[in-house]
Amino acid sequence: MSKATSKSHKSAVSKPSSKADKSASSIDIGISQSHRQAIANGLNSLLADTFTLYLTTHNFHWNVTGPMFNTLHNMFMVQYTELWNAVDPIAERVRALGYPAIGSFAQFKGASSLPDAPAQPPKATDMIRTLVAGHEAVARTARALFPLVDKASDEPTADLLTQRLDIHEKTAWMLRSLLED
Ligand SMILES: [Fe+2]
Repeated sequence: MSKATSKSHKSAVSKPSSKADKSASSIDIGISQSHRQAIANGLNSLLADTFTLYLTTHNFHWNVTGPMFNTLHNMFMVQYTELWNAVDPIAERVRALGYPAIGSFAQFKGASSLPDAPAQPPKATDMIRTLVAGHEAVARTARALFPLVDKASDEPTADLLTQRLDIHEKTAWMLRSLLED
């Protein structure tokens, strides 16, 4: 288990209420309750990472300056739109497994393996470096969940993780390329 995942598992999900617990235990989709809960915790960590990266990317869309303004302003818009659209299927997979999806700034802060967006806008190349590190961190969080998902034969979550890994690794490559000569 990665450091990021073990850290976030502690804080991603508050203890379910007895009502939520009862509702989760009545689900019978062929995945044990303990596996469903562990996968839901991991997906909540992925949700927190994705939301944090979404907000940072949108922040950089607003605050980028310099000769690469047009390229980066537009590129960041495409990226934050993709990230915004990604949070919904992740949260809804958590619900389908029978657990609450996290959705507050306090919960996201506690569960995310990414730092918050910087308070002062960095220069453009540092924005790019921050986003490369962010996409790599989200990819690590998604990848760390795979052994558990495989063990539980949770194909829908595996499919979701595969799609997220593909986009984060591709976006990190595109951003990294901007920093090369
Ligand atoms: Fe805009």
